[in-house]
Amino acid sequence: FAPKLLAGHSILLTAGPTREAIDPVRYISNQSSGKMGFALAKAAADMGAEVTLVSGPVNLTTPVGVKRVDVISTQDMLEAVMRRVDSHDIFIGCAAVADYRVTEIANEKIKKSSTDMQLALVRNPDILATVASHNPRPFTLGFAAETQDVERYAKDKLVRKKLDMIAANDVSNPELGFNADNNALKVIWAKGQEDLPATDKQTLAIQLLGIVAERIAILKDD
Ligand code: C5P
Repeated sequence: FAPKLLAGHSILLTAGPTREAIDPVRYISNQSSGKMGFALAKAAADMGAEVTLVSGPVNLTTPVGVKRVDVISTQDMLEAVMRRVDSHDIFIGCAAVADYRVTEIANEKIKKSSTDMQLALVRNPDILATVASHNPRPFTLGFAAETQDVERYAKDKLVRKKLDMIAANDVSNPELGFNADNNALKVIWAKGQEDLPATDKQTLAIQLLGIVAERIAILKDD
């Protein structure tokens, strides 16, 4: 049971990996399972929010009461998010977005030869930073997965991407974070921070959204 702390709010969330095609049968992607994002979507719906979940390719069931939009590539995810950003007051970027895509997707399956080959890549847009720079902007929460200096890199990301809050996790521990069922988060905002110790992702999602609800209520009073 979760108290309806987010009643009256609408949350737009990204989850899972994005996938960048190389040719009709190959792609570049990452190990994200989407579990944290889906846990957040469920928790947000349980807490009374209207939830739209923009998800990359994952093997998870849509939580009850959550509107789901499926996308594959980063550019698709950006478009799906920007089309909906104005109708939501909270954005959570939980997706593990591919930082690069191939410069030109081959129309036919690339034939192997006996020599090595090079793949040309271009930078993908940053969905989270694009949302945070949008006017009017929703309350924007990002994630940071780091293997070292978690707090320093997370604080840097908070400022650089102009976020309201960042939830950082140490992915060097294989028991936590990427693809695991448990996670621990260091939640940081401009004027404070809070550590959420290791627990299952569903419990953590409720705790994290509790902090979001509290910060939004405080911002309203400011
Ligand atoms: O810079 P870094 O990839 O570590 O930032 C992670 C945060 O930024 C996550 O919240 C992720 O969802 C978001 N992100 C994004 N678009 C990208 C890269 C990251 O929305 N192209």
